[in-house]
Amino acid sequence: MVFYLIGLGLGDVEDITVKGLNIVKNCARVHLEAYTSILCYGLDKTNLEKFYGREVIEADRTIVEQESDAILKGADKEDVALLVVGDPFGATTHADLVLRAKQQNIPVIRDDTRFLLEIES
Ligand SMILES: C[S@@+](CC[C@H](N)C(=O)[O-])C[C@H]1O[C@@H](n2cnc3c(N)ncnc32)[C@H](O)[C@@H]1O
Repeated sequence: MVFYLIGLGLGDVEDITVKGLNIVKNCARVHLEAYTSILCYGLDKTNLEKFYGREVIEADRTIVEQESDAILKGADKEDVALLVVGDPFGATTHADLVLRAKQQNIPVIRDDTRFLLEIES
């Protein structure tokens, strides 16, 4: 299936693209990157869960840096998303996650207000 890297913008919960919102609603699991980005202006787990109407799993520093395989777990069989405040590629940890996904032959799609594209190897 697909690992989605979704940029949330730097504003509020409504800055996600329509495509991104549909992905979030249909993914088996949705993680929220809570280490490299400051979750401000209401872009936090509680408000995002309320807006999406579904569970969002917060990924802290330990998970993002040392246990990132937990985010990718099962993404070969079902769709998984990682939500990132701001630029989804503004941190090397996210690039590392994409490389790990590619090593496991999991397709990666980035979606934010500037891009919707499949990341080639
Ligand atoms: C690894 S980058 C964060 C990348 C993040 N995805 C982004 O696009 O801002 C870390 C830098 O982003 C800044 N930063 C993190 N969250 C931010 C936010 N919500 N608004 C503005 N700057 C932010 C931090 O101050 C730090 O200098």
